[in-house]
Amino acid sequence: MNTKYLYINTIGCQMNVYDSEQMVRRLKPLGYEISPTIEAADLIIVNTCAIREKAEQKAFSFLGRLTALKRKKPELIICVGGCVAQQEGRLILERVPNVDLVFGTHALNRLPEHILKISLKRCRISDVEMTQEIVEFSPDVNPVVNGNITRFVTIMRGCDNYCTYCVVPYVRGPEISRRPESVIGEIRELVKSGVQEVTLLGQNVNSYGIKERLCSFPELLKLVNEIEGLFRIRFTTSHPKDLSEDLISSFAGLEKLCSHIHLPVQSGSNSVLKRMNRKYTGELYLEKIDRLRKISPDIAITSDVIVGFPGETEDDFKATLDLVKEVEFDSLFTFGYSDRKNAPAARFSDKVPDDKKKERLRELLELQEYYTVKKNRALVGSTELILVDGFSKKQGTEDGQKGFAGVHWTGRTSTNKIVNFVDENFLSGDSALIGKKIDVKIQKAFSHSLLGKPVDLNRLPDRVTGEESYAA
Ligand code: 5AD
Ligand code: SF4
Repeated sequence: MNTKYLYINTIGCQMNVYDSEQMVRRLKPLGYEISPTIEAADLIIVNTCAIREKAEQKAFSFLGRLTALKRKKPELIICVGGCVAQQEGRLILERVPNVDLVFGTHALNRLPEHILKISLKRCRISDVEMTQEIVEFSPDVNPVVNGNITRFVTIMRGCDNYCTYCVVPYVRGPEISRRPESVIGEIRELVKSGVQEVTLLGQNVNSYGIKERLCSFPELLKLVNEIEGLFRIRFTTSHPKDLSEDLISSFAGLEKLCSHIHLPVQSGSNSVLKRMNRKYTGELYLEKIDRLRKISPDIAITSDVIVGFPGETEDDFKATLDLVKEVEFDSLFTFGYSDRKNAPAARFSDKVPDDKKKERLRELLELQEYYTVKKNRALVGSTELILVDGFSKKQGTEDGQKGFAGVHWTGRTSTNKIVNFVDENFLSGDSALIGKKIDVKIQKAFSHSLLGKPVDLNRLPDRVTGEESYAA
């Protein structure tokens, strides 16, 4: 079979990263390999995200840029997958003449048959049928080995929560969980291929397995914790209303579970939370934070906040600022509210003007910056165990490493903070340290990263296997 080249542009969330890997896996039997460049590709997929307006615009502007490529290479197949595909369906075929296939969030399994059909008949297809089937891991199809030591694993799809601003339940469908043995099987395979850290993904991992009467999420975590050779476990996202005592206790009981939770609060105002259909109050949220910090004092807490939700008053916004001051998040993702097709809030009155949203975003970001830097500065002088996951992208920039001779590495702490360090013994960038667990003394703090120095690179024992780690 001739090798053909596949290029995927993944937009949006971690779940899309996982889905793109699934696409690669499914197209391998048709002879597709990852393309070294976009120009060399025979098949281009844009895996889209509909969560916010900006993400949707990104997809269409990328498709626009493909016009010249398709003119030069008419046999090029262009596909649109993911949430925008699910939402717009056939309309994309009408709006963008170069697109050959639109496949929705439930059509992953049918991708190879559509591609075959298009290559043979040069037809145009839209498949946005929703099914109750979940894409399961099959042990006879190996996971994509891409050399990464940290990977995402989707454990459930869809969402049943219907927050009024959110498009996810409409484009991803109802919540459905994978079987635990399928999840465990997949992680075992990943570990065999060198993966050391997994992030379990779901829109609301707290309701994992409930509908299907599988095991609970804390029970699943326990099973993952037992996988030999796996070093760290992360998960995202947890809905505050369902954050159970069992899950909170897992942070104390499971040694592989990282000290970090992403717990989106969205707003600090009870009236906004009510209109968002979040089903908790600011007070309840703070109680959960208290419980988490009692069980796990060093836990890092991050969150999402939407500003400018329809009807948000100055007092509502102030309540959000107050909550942010009270919690002191490690970091915060902030979004200006945008209307989404089908989401009920799009029809709410009292929309907040764009310049007001921008002003509030600026104020919130400035406040959060103070806490992020404060939390990072508190780590200066401490020694953190990091898992090295690659070369530092920001060599010689933000973290002030400019001028250091040596290899610039990056890794994360259990609390999910990025730590960069330089190995002065090495001048060339082979991958010797990737996957190593290294104690690093933190020397400097920045808003998005830390700079450290390995405590003793040459004499560190490997924490998981017990072997001597890299020795120069
Ligand atoms: N407008 C702005 N932000 C949104 N989010 C979800 N929907 C919208 C919207 N319509 C944000 C929420 C969510 C994160 C993934 O995206 O904060 O937690
Ligand atoms: Fe959207 Fe709410 Fe579901 Fe999260 S929990 S995906 S914000 S509907």
